[in-house]
Formats: sequence, structure tokens, C-alpha cells
Amino acid sequence: MARKKSKSTPGESLRVATTGDIEVSTYLEIAKEIGGEQPAAPEEAVSGAEREAIIVLDFGSQYNMLIARRVRECQVYCELLPHDTPWEKIAPLNPKGFILSGGPASVYEPDAPIAPAYIYESGLPILGICYGMQVITKQLGGQVTPGTKHEYGHAILHLSDVDSVLFSGLPDSTPVWMSHGDKIEEMPPGFTALAHTENSPFAVMGNGEGVFGLQFHPEVVHTPEGKNILKNFVYRICGCRGNWTMGNFVSESIAKIRNQVGSGKVINALSGGVDSSVVATVIHQAIGDQLTCIFVNNGLLRHEEAERTLNVFQKNLGMNIIYVDASDRFLDRLKGVTDPETKRKIIGEEFIRVFEEEANKIGKVDFLAQGTLYPDVIESVSSVSTASAKIKTHHNVGGLPARMTLNLLEPLRYLFKDEVRQVGLELGLPEEMVLRQPFPGPGLAIRCIGEVTREKLEILRNADWIVMNEIKKAKLYHQLWQSFAVLTDVKSVGVMGDYRTYGYLIAVRAVTSNDAMTADWARLPYELLAQIANRIVNEVPGVNRVVYDITSKPPSTIEWE
Ligand code: XMP
Repeated sequence: MARKKSKSTPGESLRVATTGDIEVSTYLEIAKEIGGEQPAAPEEAVSGAEREAIIVLDFGSQYNMLIARRVRECQVYCELLPHDTPWEKIAPLNPKGFILSGGPASVYEPDAPIAPAYIYESGLPILGICYGMQVITKQLGGQVTPGTKHEYGHAILHLSDVDSVLFSGLPDSTPVWMSHGDKIEEMPPGFTALAHTENSPFAVMGNGEGVFGLQFHPEVVHTPEGKNILKNFVYRICGCRGNWTMGNFVSESIAKIRNQVGSGKVINALSGGVDSSVVATVIHQAIGDQLTCIFVNNGLLRHEEAERTLNVFQKNLGMNIIYVDASDRFLDRLKGVTDPETKRKIIGEEFIRVFEEEANKIGKVDFLAQGTLYPDVIESVSSVSTASAKIKTHHNVGGLPARMTLNLLEPLRYLFKDEVRQVGLELGLPEEMVLRQPFPGPGLAIRCIGEVTREKLEILRNADWIVMNEIKKAKLYHQLWQSFAVLTDVKSVGVMGDYRTYGYLIAVRAVTSNDAMTADWARLPYELLAQIANRIVNEVPGVNRVVYDITSKPPSTIEWE
């Protein structure tokens, strides 16, 4: 998986913004370097006569991925593509309509991006959002000027044409979220204003022939009726039927994997995380024992994590799993290491070595399964990931076995994370696994501050287990992005009974977040915090003090290292 760097100061530790694990990402890079067959072409994302798609042309808005998610929530397949994507790439998707996203440019600037002519020639419905609306205005003969009153934040939309199908089921006035500087001075010929706000007389425009413009952002939560507007657009205006369901996705994926793999052999690095688990399960349902999963225990997993993962995949699902307990190798290499980035590097390298050794034992393998998700695909098209360059350096140290010419199998390539979870549930994976909080690839090593030792890991595991247990008991587990214990390298004085103690300080971290890019510390109830602290000092030998981390991200990060 491509990874984002969330801090960009040179020389600083690598912090990743996504939540799969670093080992799996590394293998994606390896497979790309080795060459071999490239991932399936976009047109294969939805197959057969059922195919229908809404295409979002991307003009660079920070919300553009949200548009695609909202459309998919309406059970209509949607792809986000660069604004200058040629028609040949779009036609096979069977587009039913276009959405032009917002963007930071100004249409009256000389090199401002515009929409390709085919969208107007296709006769398909078009919805321009913010900058997208201005693009339509300019290209169809209207006029856009720099606005004197910039409009950011909340506004009230008043419908002028309550009969427009775009507004079906909407109240006459509704809050919307604005974010624009430029202003439509004159609508293109044939367009009328369908709604207005205090500062935008043309907050919504339409030409009666399926072309619409919205001056606000329907995709954000601050526009409560936004999803209904998008729903009206895709169903009532574009005529979509809504066949993008995870059930359909699973059956189509299974057929596609069988077709792609034939009688070949597939390997997958199973980590117990959501993505690799769902990938393994869908491939296993398609090709059974032609799939071998390699599950490496790096000694940095949580309490009974390896047993739980093996239980689900080996015992319950009957998968072919090579389990490698490589704890000693990892922990030996981590001896004396305190720098977080060096820890990550060592763990990444060692993982590659173990994985290669095990893969070599299997004999000829044809495919490497990957949990690449749609945001990674979008990101790799639109920007170069600095983190992936870093991951490659991990790999280069490890060395590549030349004979591992693997093709990539990426069944989740077109899914958002929440869709992956739905697929997991559809495939019958336990909720406990599918809805779990993210866990970093380097595992407990980056929650054990300073040197990682067996003794410290044991303390951390026990404390972490209590945190998880109490959070689950309080029914807060799913509301939190992450909740865990950190073993600080600090020791402090305490008193237990008549004895003075000198023990470790455990920090409890619990955050809410949507995407790990930003996070807020969770306002856990005092009673819950008291219970967690009590249990940790009473049940975990070596710990005599517990603190709660009340910093948000930024300026802190979620993990302590
Ligand atoms: P930070 O600590 O940067 O973390 O706010 C953001 C998200 O990424 C996870 N994380 C990692 N995941 N390898 C991973 O696979 C890593 O090295 C790593 N570092 C942080 C973290 O748990 C959070 O969800």
C-alpha cells in the first residue's frame, strides 16, 4: 500500500497516515520492482451487463474522495479520475453521468483546468460542484469573476424551483457548506437559478437538460441534505439502478480471481489486520488451497494475538497457513535499539527476510496478494508517495530473490476502507476482526518506548489487554479510532502496602478520528479511567503509575514513537 507521510520535516521519523501494515506495503513495492503483470485495469472493477458508473473528474478539491464515497453509499459504483482522463479510459466503465469536483484554481486564470469536451458531447448528465460549476459556466458561455464576498462555512440554501428532481424530498430551505471565492456573474445561456443563498443568487443552476451546478459542497457532513441531492442526481437524473453492493462485489471478485489465477499459486502475507484478512478470505473462497498465507509472529503482537488469528483462519476457515514464530529473530535484532525509526527499519527488513525464506520453501508461486485500497490507487495516480520510497530502502537492504517473479492480485483495489469492512462481514469474518481498531505494522515495538525487551513487552501486553478489555466492556471500542497502552521508559516512586515501589509508568492513549490524519483525545468517563488505572497497577507487576494522554493530533501523533 502506498503510504502518506503525515509530517514532512526532513530527517524526522516516518509516520504513516494509513492503517494497514508496513510489511504488506513493502511487498507491494517489491512486486512492482520485479515487474510481471500489472494490476487489473480499471474497467474490470465492475463486470458484465450490470456495470454502471458515475465518474468524478478530479479538479483537486480536498473533498473529492468524499464525493466518490457518498455516491457509493447510494450503491452506485463511482470512480475518481484525473480531470483530463481520455474518453477511451472512461467508456469501458459505462458512465451514466459525470460529477466535476471542486478545486483550488480560478477558472478565469490562463491555465485553469477545464473539463474535456466529451463530457458535453456525451449527452450524459453533469453535476458541477463549486469549481466544477464554474468550469461548466465558463465552458458553456457564462461568466465567472473573482467574488467580492468570499463565502466559507455555513449558509442557508433556499430552493427557487421546488419541483426540480434534483431537490426531490428536500425541505424548502436547508443548511449547506460553502467554500468559494469566485462568483458566477452570468449563467450560461439556457440555465436558470434553481436555488440561492444570501450571497449566491445562483447557488444551484440547471439547464433542464441534465446539466447542473452546485455552489456548495453536498459531499460534506455539514450539508445534511447533500447525500439526498447526490442520490437524486444518480438515480433520478442519471437513471442508475444501484447495483454496487458488497454482495455483488464478492461474487464478481470470486469469478474474477478464478479467471485471473487459473491453476496458479498465490501467497499472501497475513497480519490479522482487516485488509490482509479480507484479501485472504476472498481469495480463499475463490481458489481454496491454491492460496498459502504466511503469518509471521514478530514477537511484537498483542496478548494472544497469534493464537486468535490462527484460530480464525486456520481452524475456522481452513486456510493453508504457514505460521512462523520468528519472535527471537526480531527481538534479538532489536536489542539495544532505542530510535523509533531504526526500530521500524529493522522490523521491516527482518519481515522481508522471514517472508522470503518461507516463500522460497513453497516452490513456484505465481501471484502475490495485496490489500491495496482505492485511496492508495488514487494517491499513486495523483502524487508520488515519499513514504513508498522509504519502504523500498527497507527492501533493498534485504535483497531480492530474482526468481520471485510475482504478479499482483489486488482484489480490494477499488474499495474504500468501510467497503472492505462490509466485504469482510459479507464473507462471514467475525465482527471482532472486521471492525477492529488499527494496529501498526511494527506492533508493540513503537509503544514500548526506548529499548524493546521481553520483560517490557510482557508488561505492555498485560496493560494493553486491560485497556482493551475495559474499553470493550464500556462499549466504547467501536467509537474510538484507537485505544491502547504505552509503556513509557519512565520509572517513578510509589507506595504499595508498607512498601516503597519503583515501577514503570503506563500511559493510556484513546483517540477519536476519521482518517488518522488528525485525531482528538477521547473524553473517556472518569470512572472508566479510574477502573483502567486501578486494574493496571493492581494486576500488572512492575507498574505503579498510570497517566492519560490528553493531547490531540496535531501537534502530537497517535502513536508515541
Ligand atoms: P501517527 O502515530 O502517525 O499514526 O499519528 C497514524 C496511524 O498510523 C498508524 N501507524 C503505523 N502503521 N506502520 C503502520 O502500519 C507504522 O510504522 C505506523 N506508525 C503509525 C497508527 O497506529 C495510526 O493509526
